[in-house]
Amino acid sequence: MKYQPFYEDKKIKWKKKEKFMNATMLSENAKHYPVMLNQVLSIISPQRGGTYIDCTFGGGGYSEAILKFPGTKVIAIDRDKLTQEKAKKLEKKFPKRFSFFQEKFSNLNKVIEENLKPKAVIFDLGLSSLQLSDECRGFSFESKNFLNMEMGINEYSAYEVVNTLDKKHLADIIKILGDERDGKKIANKIDKQRTISPIKTSKELSSIINQVKKNYKNYKKNPSTKTFQAIRIFVNQELTQLISALIEASKILSNDGILIVVSFHSLEDKIIKNFFNIYSNLKKNPSRYLPIEENKSIFFKSISKKPLTANNHELNENIRSRSGKLRYAIRNNNSFVHPIEFKKKFEKYFKLEDGIIW
Ligand SMILES: C[S@@+](CC[C@H](N)C(=O)[O-])C[C@H]1O[C@@H](n2cnc3c(N)ncnc32)[C@H](O)[C@@H]1O
Repeated sequence: MKYQPFYEDKKIKWKKKEKFMNATMLSENAKHYPVMLNQVLSIISPQRGGTYIDCTFGGGGYSEAILKFPGTKVIAIDRDKLTQEKAKKLEKKFPKRFSFFQEKFSNLNKVIEENLKPKAVIFDLGLSSLQLSDECRGFSFESKNFLNMEMGINEYSAYEVVNTLDKKHLADIIKILGDERDGKKIANKIDKQRTISPIKTSKELSSIINQVKKNYKNYKKNPSTKTFQAIRIFVNQELTQLISALIEASKILSNDGILIVVSFHSLEDKIIKNFFNIYSNLKKNPSRYLPIEENKSIFFKSISKKPLTANNHELNENIRSRSGKLRYAIRNNNSFVHPIEFKKKFEKYFKLEDGIIW
């Protein structure tokens, strides 16, 4: 694996910035709904006990629900320092059954002991409602705070991306990670603006994008939605985090262990769907003479090709659940081998998000 930061030729210095987030406080009053919790619980059956890995602790909704079942243990991970407050409460309440690590989930192997054999590894991707409602993070279009968009343990902020990244790369990011056809125009406008003065807040960025999208006709969505999504994904390296984590989780799981992922946008879902298509019984059998169970590059049994979605009751309660898609599969006995086919398929995201070339 070779590192090749794509901004190197421009000699841009990406210094680690002062951690702005320290000033942020979690609002205890922010309402928090764990998305598709009932479906998750019915898949993992915690009433039978066992160890579970919650890779996206967030507001602790999944972890807490699992811990209500007496024979369970939960190891939780989140990159966001602010989740520690809730994690500490659970550690106090369940000292022998709960532990927390502030870590990126791509580093799952660093915090999980070998031979742990968890019953399930669970991901609930994206931002928590606490992060979204936190003005200081700069995730919202109206935020007059520092253009941050960091989830935690980041190399750079949205401020650095927007104000210093090469114009061509900025356009690629907006186009590919935001699926925004006006990526080039938006990057040009940003470039023009930043030569006059740095773009400091999310609100400023949003108003620059809106100038390009002034004829935008989708009144349901803010015209900045796609560009904000792209920059947020880039700042947090969300797609490469997911790809690496799926691989790590598959190494950790053993026979009958369950991998569950809840995702919220099509780029993530495409990665998860492909992963299960390539490495589960959903894969087209290369030889009709070889029973699929004997194919050594199959590591999972997938129950359904279609994702599960939130039921009507949940949709009424929590608007965020509208775009949630849950996919899961059950690990078999085959030893997990280096999944070059999967990585190759999504190489472009590694090139785009951090310039890693295999
Ligand atoms: C949607 S929330 C999870 C909510 C949680 N299931 C609950 O019930 O409260 C997603 C969380 O995942 C965390 N996260 C996102 N990407 C991560 C990564 N690469 N590594 C670790 N945590 C991550 C975010 O910081 C956020 O707190």
